[in-house]
Amino acid sequence: MDALTRDQLAIEPARVLTAPDLLVGSSLPGWHAAGGGIGLRRALEDRAGIIGVLERAGLRGLGGAGFPTHRKWEAVAAQPGPEKVVVCNGNEDEPGTFKDRFLLGRTPHQVIEGALIAALAVGARQVVMYVNPHLGSVLPTVAEAVAAWRADPVLLELAAALGGPVTLEARASSGRYIGGEETAVVAWLEGSFPFPRRKPPFPAESGVHGKPTLINNAETLAHVPHILRHGAAWFRSRGRGGAPGTKLFSLSGDVQRPGLYELPMGTPLAELIEEHGGGMLMGRAFKAVFTGGPSNTLLTADHLDVPLDFDSVRARGSRLGTGAMIVVSEGTSIPRRVTEFVEFFAESSCGQCPPCKTGTYQLATLLHRIDSGHGTRADLDSIRQLCGLLPGSGRCGLIDGAVTVVASSLERFGAEYESMLRG
Ligand SMILES: Cc1cc2nc3c(=O)[nH]c(=O)nc-3n(C[C@H](O)[C@H](O)[C@H](O)COP(=O)(O)O)c2cc1C
Repeated sequence: MDALTRDQLAIEPARVLTAPDLLVGSSLPGWHAAGGGIGLRRALEDRAGIIGVLERAGLRGLGGAGFPTHRKWEAVAAQPGPEKVVVCNGNEDEPGTFKDRFLLGRTPHQVIEGALIAALAVGARQVVMYVNPHLGSVLPTVAEAVAAWRADPVLLELAAALGGPVTLEARASSGRYIGGEETAVVAWLEGSFPFPRRKPPFPAESGVHGKPTLINNAETLAHVPHILRHGAAWFRSRGRGGAPGTKLFSLSGDVQRPGLYELPMGTPLAELIEEHGGGMLMGRAFKAVFTGGPSNTLLTADHLDVPLDFDSVRARGSRLGTGAMIVVSEGTSIPRRVTEFVEFFAESSCGQCPPCKTGTYQLATLLHRIDSGHGTRADLDSIRQLCGLLPGSGRCGLIDGAVTVVASSLERFGAEYESMLRG
């Protein structure tokens, strides 16, 4: 899928990453005219202070886990030697998430500048923009933007600060979902199939070819130049209810206006759906939302007031994830949607951990049987058993995500599964 067009974006004044002046074109002079470059300059002036600014800003990883960004940067910075790598993760292949392709395809310079500031902070001279090649013109756009930065004299200043030449390149990822997991990113950049690896060691200690490697999501890095430019307090003031910054929400499913919305972190779910998404499609009643994408816990009408930030969503037993919100209306089958998602996970499982490959396949088969009206009570019991057995059985989080969505749907919509059993 190609990057979203401007018309598909609701532009409002609170925007930072999707502010109108950033969307006028993807040229480097255009980015500079919109205030780009100031963050990197501040970082060059006070290199030792970069990580502290991020800590005070409260920036957390927006690739799904919400891990505090400054802690990961500190871990890489603490590693000895100049042979370190920064990777911008632009693999984005999960159903329902379409934010990184927008940033990289429409405003790549803020992401690249964020990656360069990261390199300066952790002491890395190799910067890789790792981009899914299946996202239309996104990869060529990033490659063009990278070429523009390479010709910019600021890279010489960066090299002087880092004590040697800086390499900046755009690399095509495998385009597979699993290729976005951080150790799979490392494997692919080493020239291998993107099989996730056991952790520890974490990439921060031993990543690409054994070098300490910082891997951050494209949206996480996009925030960095703005934070360095405007300061930590400014970033904190962008959010609501104590949650810092803004967040890109990928809103899809049964709403009037699906699309990408940049809103203050902490915006209530109901506001996202009603005000920004235009309410439910054809006036149908709200049934549930797959919060944070298809590998998380479902939230129901009781949770429409939840502020969409990491801690508030977690307090309701779910996760903000990538900020994907897949809305389901009354009349739409939960088992059908869950079956589709689990089929995706079964196809995406890389196969190196047998419980994940066979477990996702088995879950998909059983769910499909129930969804098509051929399931029995024994099938439903098997699904419940698998949900108990499978978590933690894979090297990466794929199997855990698949089980989470199944178990959550059984907990909240068990009666719907029961009603579909044969006889
Ligand atoms: C199966 C799987 C797929 C993933 N795909 C992506 C992805 O496409 N992009 C991404 O940024 N993170 C992805 N992640 C999360 C990464 O492993 C990693 O946590 C993230 O890139 C770190 O960035 P952040 O700290 O800025 O969030 C994936 C994780 C798993 C388990």
